Amino acid sequence: MTDQLMVEVRQLCKSFQAPGGQIDVLRGIDLLIKKNERVAVVGTSGAGKTTLMHILGGLDSPTSGEVRVEGENLFSLRGNALDAFRNRTVGFVFQFHQLLPEFTALENVMMPRLIAGEKRGPASEKAAAVLSEVGLGHRLKHKPGALSGGEQQRVAIARALVNEPQLLLADEPTGNLDTGTSDEIVSLLNRMHDSRGLTMVIVTHNIPLAAGLDRTLKIEDGVLAGDVLN
Ligand SMILES: Nc1ncnc2c1ncn2[C@@H]1O[C@H](COP(=O)(O)OP(=O)(O)O)[C@@H](O)[C@H]1O
Ligand SMILES: [Mg+2]
Repeated sequence: MTDQLMVEVRQLCKSFQAPGGQIDVLRGIDLLIKKNERVAVVGTSGAGKTTLMHILGGLDSPTSGEVRVEGENLFSLRGNALDAFRNRTVGFVFQFHQLLPEFTALENVMMPRLIAGEKRGPASEKAAAVLSEVGLGHRLKHKPGALSGGEQQRVAIARALVNEPQLLLADEPTGNLDTGTSDEIVSLLNRMHDSRGLTMVIVTHNIPLAAGLDRTLKIEDGVLAGDVLN
């Protein structure tokens, strides 16, 4: 059973110190996600969705509790080991693509491979292949400012997947897009899930998107309620 689990979260708590006092955002999250599962996370603004995604991806640390990804206890990893985990095991897609504006689509997508130590030649070949997979083989030399919102998000998805991570975390990936473009991004994510056997966690306000995944979890009062839609 354990080796089929991608994510194991036990009694995860996260508090922030704010000027008005301490905010207890996550108050005992328990969550098991199987390999290859597609999970939607919903909840009102400020419920803690982004906080949870950052912790699952090792971008932020919990106040208490345990997070394992592929059996690895994230917060016992230090420095380089945590960086390597983030770079290889997890791909992140954000609402605002967070591409580097002065670099081309190809250079943005190559970056995680260069960071992992690969040479420019093979990194560039791999990045071009993944950009073709997301339908942007004809936009390699464009900078983000010369791409549409949907194209920018495709580049961000290619960047998230270029190191072939097993877990894709997407935080409101269609939050900034019109309906037609959102639908294209959702089908792209599902296609990537199917072709790579990805595990996906997607924060969304888009009910049809959530309903099309395997499970929907809602963060409410700092804890998770399961299967609110499916
Ligand atoms: N770095 C931080 N410092 C202080 N408070 C924070 C920080 N990050 C998030 N928060 C607070 O935690 C709560 C949850 O934020 P967030 O996870 O971004 O919610 P969501 O993504 O569901 O809208 C909010 O009240 C937010 O203001
Ligand atoms: Mg958020």
